[in-house]
Amino acid sequence: METKRAHHVVVVPYPSQGHYNPMLQFSKRLVSKGLKATLAITRFISRSLNHNNPPGSVQIDTISDGFDDGGAKEDYVKRFQAAGSKTLADLIIKYKNTSHPVDCIVYDAVLPWALDVAQQFGLVGAAFVTHMAAVNYIYYNAHHKLLPLPVVSSPVTIPGLPPLEIRDLPSFIYAADSYPAYLELVLAQFSNMNKADYVLVNTFYKLEEQVVDAMSKVWGCPLLTIGPTIPSLYLENRLQVDNDYGLNLFQLDSSMSIDWLNNKPPRSVIYVSFGSMADLNDKQMEELAHGFKRSNFYFLWVIRDSEESKIPRGFKEETSKSNVGLIVNWSPQLEVLADEAIGCFFTHCGWNSTIEALSLGVPVVAMPQWTDQTTDAKFVEDVWKVGVRVRVDDNGIVSREEIESCIRDVMEGERGGEMKKNAKKWKGLAIEAVSEGGTSDTNVDKFVSKWVS
Ligand code: UDX
Repeated sequence: METKRAHHVVVVPYPSQGHYNPMLQFSKRLVSKGLKATLAITRFISRSLNHNNPPGSVQIDTISDGFDDGGAKEDYVKRFQAAGSKTLADLIIKYKNTSHPVDCIVYDAVLPWALDVAQQFGLVGAAFVTHMAAVNYIYYNAHHKLLPLPVVSSPVTIPGLPPLEIRDLPSFIYAADSYPAYLELVLAQFSNMNKADYVLVNTFYKLEEQVVDAMSKVWGCPLLTIGPTIPSLYLENRLQVDNDYGLNLFQLDSSMSIDWLNNKPPRSVIYVSFGSMADLNDKQMEELAHGFKRSNFYFLWVIRDSEESKIPRGFKEETSKSNVGLIVNWSPQLEVLADEAIGCFFTHCGWNSTIEALSLGVPVVAMPQWTDQTTDAKFVEDVWKVGVRVRVDDNGIVSREEIESCIRDVMEGERGGEMKKNAKKWKGLAIEAVSEGGTSDTNVDKFVSKWVS
């Protein structure tokens, strides 16, 4: 495909790791299709970024979330809307008389004010959904009062979705009082989404066929599945070429060692990570440590700096001495998941981690914490059948026995073999979706064809 001039798309993610990753990768995809892409990150994050980690061909620019110097983020959503709208408008104006005026804003669906800015300047506006489609559809139903809150009885039935128990709903729905600001944020995306030119979802058609079909019937604008937004090189396990997911808000741990993994037999290591935000309590960390030890498998466990004080006393030293495990602050997750040595992913089921596991063919032990993770875990276990979900006891803890037993279910036996087989099937379908002519690739072309012929 060729362009007359490289048309310019500004991409505006919500400032967190789980939103930057897919939106940066989508930006790269647009560049590969002949567009110019600028990722608008917040000034605060721009200042703290590790600039040794450039995001390739995508340009970076900044907007303000109202907290350029950090500090306690009170009224974050409101202040971001005010400062973000103004500085995004300034950014559009800045490019106006250059050779790259902005043609389109791709905005994180939870920042609906960015669509107002796009329309104020007569630009194309596309919402980008970083959750799975099913989660977005549950929020849609709640926003339109088709799913009245609080939900008090189950199963909940929504077209295109399996019957859902209360614990399968996103936590903001079943515990609507717990994070009112976040509930407002996820529901507010529908205040103007029907006016967007496109809605882009980081999933692939075959993964969520029924729900995507159901949503397409009621959506006010084209709904395009464009995922997984994982560098395609990873999908093919050609790791040596591009190991940069880009824009890491966390420093890679110097003790992280792919060699450590490479010295382990195939499918012998549990990879453990709870993403960029989870906050487990001390007791739960203790149970995890014992559960991994009891399972007798190797483990690679990501424990972020902010969580380090919760590691049970002596556990890190004991682990490193016995060489049974490796504990790191942050890992190159895609590279790890693509490694032959990994037998299962013990995960909080953030959407990125979930779709990364599916796309790289890794079975899962799901230990969801909050937000969309509960619904992702439901699909992992019952719809895609690539893993098991842990049971939480009456004290809100997942016991060491439960942890051990779930790991065994996934790593061993006939059931484990089935999950591995299913995971491999989804990996194949993910590759098919993003390959030339696949559903996601065709949808990206559809979006780009507005400007490129
Ligand atoms: C959050 C929410 O929790 C998630 O449910 C939502 O869908 C997106 O925003 P987070 O909790 O950080 O994200 O989880 P996840 O969505 O899995 O994103 C984490 C990202 O960080 C993944 O892309 C993962 O590959 C990356 N990561 C994680 C690393 O690169 N290294 C690590 O050590 C851990």
